Amino acid sequence: MATTLATPPVVPADVLARVAPIYDRVRTVIPPFEWPAFAEDIDAILRLKRERDAVILAHNYQTPEIFHGVADIVGDSLALAREAARTDASVIVLCGVHFMAETAKLLNPSKTVLIPDLEAGCSLAESITGADVRLLRQRYPGVPVVSYVNTSAEVKAETDVCCTSGNARAVIESLGVPRVIMLPDEYLARNIAAQTSVEVIAWHGRCEVHERFSADDIRQLRAGHPGVVVLAHPECSPEVVAAADFVGSTQGMNDYVVQKRPPRVVLITECSMSDNVAAQHPELEFVRPCNLCPHMKRITLPGIRRALETMTHAIEVPAAIAAPARRAVERMLAVKPR
Ligand code: 13P
Ligand code: SF4
Repeated sequence: MATTLATPPVVPADVLARVAPIYDRVRTVIPPFEWPAFAEDIDAILRLKRERDAVILAHNYQTPEIFHGVADIVGDSLALAREAARTDASVIVLCGVHFMAETAKLLNPSKTVLIPDLEAGCSLAESITGADVRLLRQRYPGVPVVSYVNTSAEVKAETDVCCTSGNARAVIESLGVPRVIMLPDEYLARNIAAQTSVEVIAWHGRCEVHERFSADDIRQLRAGHPGVVVLAHPECSPEVVAAADFVGSTQGMNDYVVQKRPPRVVLITECSMSDNVAAQHPELEFVRPCNLCPHMKRITLPGIRRALETMTHAIEVPAAIAAPARRAVERMLAVKPR
């Protein structure tokens, strides 16, 4: 059978010239033959952002052409929530998953918040409903409910306070109680319980990306890459966390690399995170096992361009849910970091 070779798009020279400084930031992680496929969308998105008075907030798991190419603000869930609350742009495009866009809308309800793909979900957010939280409250009367920000607004509305992987311990300890319900991530709850004297009642949700890593993977990585420093996300199992050198949110891992500059490092988390950090640190060696989050990967440059062209998909949260959900998120933001 004959073979057909895909030809790269022909990109006008003025477009390539405008986006050339961006390519300089990603040249170590995006090969030159892939760049033309991104150039026109990046150029169009940068123009549309100005026309729409839009800001792009991108999670650390977005691909490098988004993270380094079009984002104004990047970070973990906590940083994106804080930035969403304080931006004065008219439009927020949330390049991440649905709960992040919903959180942005809760915190800045007068803004138009767009998510490029409504199907960008999260296995943790889907593991629990508001009705489940009400049942838990009946079972453990008087015990406060701390919900991970990776939940729907409907679940947040049933909870006392939210947390992220970056502040979970500080939030739990800020309550000054001996026992909390922490949901929906079983592993995050167990990992935090190991660090605090507060008793933690967990739910059985799991992140489909982080639960795939095993302690045996870490042993093999250490054997195959002598001296490698292992950084893990707290959505990994307690066995993986015990085998790691450092555990932190995606921003915590990034900060570790910036401050400690380990010559050889592996990030036990979603794949694009390593690409994004590696692009900024070409002098360090990143070992890259790759577990993709299929939900994060629904966000693409053509999707972002379409979102800004058509002003879709706008996030709305019904008022009856928004008020209590906002209270839970704002209560979290008021907790001082440890
Ligand atoms: P961070 O808050 O650490 O960025 O985590 C969000 C997330 O979805 C991890 O899987
Ligand atoms: Fe949800 Fe896991 Fe994807 Fe994060 S990586 S968005 S927790 S499924």
